[in-house]
Amino acid sequence: MSKSELPTPLDARASGPLTGTARVPGDKSISHRALILGALSVGETRISGLLEGEDVLNTAKSMRALGANVERTGDFAWRVHGVGVAGFAQPASPLDFGNSGTGCRLVMGAVAGCPIAAVFDGDASLRSRPMRRVLDPLALMGARVTQAGEGGRLPLTLQGAGEPVPITYRTPVASAQIKSAVLLAGLAAPGVTTVIEQEASRDHTELMLKHFGAEITSEPEGRHGRRISMIGEPELHGAAVVVPADPSSAAFPVVAGLIVEGSDIILPDVMTNPLRTGLLTTLREMGASIEETEVRRDAGEPMAQLRVRASKLRGVEVPPERAPSMIDEYLVLAVAASFAEGTTVMRGLHELRVKESDRLEATAAMLRVNGVKVDIAGDDLIVEGRGHVPGGGLVATHMDHRIAMSALVMGLAAGRPVKVDDTGFIATSFPDFIPMMRSLGAEFS
Ligand code: S3P
Repeated sequence: MSKSELPTPLDARASGPLTGTARVPGDKSISHRALILGALSVGETRISGLLEGEDVLNTAKSMRALGANVERTGDFAWRVHGVGVAGFAQPASPLDFGNSGTGCRLVMGAVAGCPIAAVFDGDASLRSRPMRRVLDPLALMGARVTQAGEGGRLPLTLQGAGEPVPITYRTPVASAQIKSAVLLAGLAAPGVTTVIEQEASRDHTELMLKHFGAEITSEPEGRHGRRISMIGEPELHGAAVVVPADPSSAAFPVVAGLIVEGSDIILPDVMTNPLRTGLLTTLREMGASIEETEVRRDAGEPMAQLRVRASKLRGVEVPPERAPSMIDEYLVLAVAASFAEGTTVMRGLHELRVKESDRLEATAAMLRVNGVKVDIAGDDLIVEGRGHVPGGGLVATHMDHRIAMSALVMGLAAGRPVKVDDTGFIATSFPDFIPMMRSLGAEFS
């Protein structure tokens, strides 16, 4: 299923118990990184379980445009023959990242270390998102923006560094995208590139760089932070990557399983990297029954089978330092909080304002239009849970896949159906969301 030009509205209505096993697609963060690191390696990279959503397919196209050989060899199976560190060729046409901030910002980092110029572009949502956060450190490393939209936004032309300089960089916000861009540029720089983060963000880039042969260390910094150092100019060699199921996509069936009475569902091979499991921690604090079995590890990434059973939830307070480990999950947590008894306070959500949409405002609007009492106080979101949700609202998705999926999950347990104005963007991260949820018993029409 892919996005068409026309909006595709959909209703979700109160459903009977959700039951059965559902395979959630591959992790988006790991899929982008496997393609990019494969392209920067010498030799063959084989990827299984790649997320074949539009965001990742755009990254695959950009790797081809930069000179790597990228082929689909079967369902979710891909093979990459890379060009080696700093080996990208000048692309003949603009690189279009569609809706994906991750694809765009990580490839900016990879291009910044090569002596080539590339034009970066994306859809209206991506064109409105801040890029300076990545371009500022890349400029310190020697890359230059020669043309850009207002405020340094897309479309922009990035001239990579002829002689990239290694830097020590303290990220101004906890962002794996900023960290990854600096590390990917640092691959081409002689000497040690260091990134210091005050709060640890997802570490898939570090784990995968190690898997592909880079020398990289990560040490604690302060109470919640990390200091990551990598030796530049490594010989990266192609590797096998098994992509686990995306916990940020699993979040939707997980919350659906909790709020739809009588549900009992199984989600195999969900990645359980602790820097991604803030939602599971929070839901358990709310009283959720989520069991982990079949725990295993592949290429440094832990994964487990999740069993989720419908549960009575209660409101909780979510501390700000948990935000990086569940940054993409607040929308669907807000849905869970609406069905809980009591108030849920989610603190420190400033980064939600610069995602695919302003997710702080969009989440509040989604709840309000469905009869839930919600407030935004500074960077905090406060949801008054009453154990049930009236529903009946029309939710504006704002070109944001996660708003569409969260609203549809809400409709499965609400008093009246919940309508979303456009489901097309779901294809960016979870192309089979609708059939997969239907296979568990979800009623969409
Ligand atoms: C991502 C990092 C996060 C997250 C995004 C994926 C990644 O963004 O929101 O969906 O793969 O590095 P920030 O690093 O900007 O917080």
